[in-house]
Amino acid sequence: MRKKIAAANWKMNLTWQEGASLVEKLVKECSPLSSSQLVILAVPFPYLNKAQELVQGRSDFSIAAQNCHHKAAGAYTGEVSASMLQSIGIQYCIVGHSERREYQSESNSQLADKLQLCFARQITPIFCCGESLPTRESGEQNSFVQAQMQESLFKLAPDQIAQTIIAYEPIWAIGTGKTATTAQAQEIHQFIRQQLATTYGDQLATQVSILYGGSVKASNASELFSCLDVDGGLVGGASLQATEFSQIIAALP
Ligand code: PGA
Repeated sequence: MRKKIAAANWKMNLTWQEGASLVEKLVKECSPLSSSQLVILAVPFPYLNKAQELVQGRSDFSIAAQNCHHKAAGAYTGEVSASMLQSIGIQYCIVGHSERREYQSESNSQLADKLQLCFARQITPIFCCGESLPTRESGEQNSFVQAQMQESLFKLAPDQIAQTIIAYEPIWAIGTGKTATTAQAQEIHQFIRQQLATTYGDQLATQVSILYGGSVKASNASELFSCLDVDGGLVGGASLQATEFSQIIAALP
């Protein structure tokens, strides 16, 4: 059975003191999850190891990086490679968040390379896809997301896809307070699963967790997570407050 996941994306927020207090509160407030549920905290690079120490003893919590570089190693000042993440015990990494696609001009082909490097280092990618407002308004969201998947995600082998986490995040809903309706979320999540089925077969498609992201909060999480093809959320702003994010975790089916 595929996992139901509440993933936090802190982005470039919080000092370590604030972050540590948030993780400590989460660990305290969240009762142990079932074996089919998981919390992933994507924290800034400098906090990775310290955050790991704080969730030790909670097998239902994992720490993720927010990015890795698309080259294996070399003269790339300031960058962090998948092998570095592996060497400090990191098991998850966000790949292709829309903010990186926009501000760092990350291309689908670079993201394909990142996905390969993650798997070469036993890191599970959380692959982000999603359309802008003009694309949604022109009704081309499905073909846009399809191209994002075909040009990077679908280069993976079946056994790799089976382990990948997908996050559908419409750019118009990120940090804007505008959430996709449950109908909009279910429709495109179902489309993503159909694309997985067409490319890799029905059985494999049912194994992949597909998260929704974009202004998920405690007040809308249960409704979104109740959609058949929505397996949890990738949460930005609302993951920075312990009580709010604990409630989102508690909304996991
Ligand atoms: P948001 O961000 O929850 O603040 O909209 C989600 C994300 O960018 O992952």
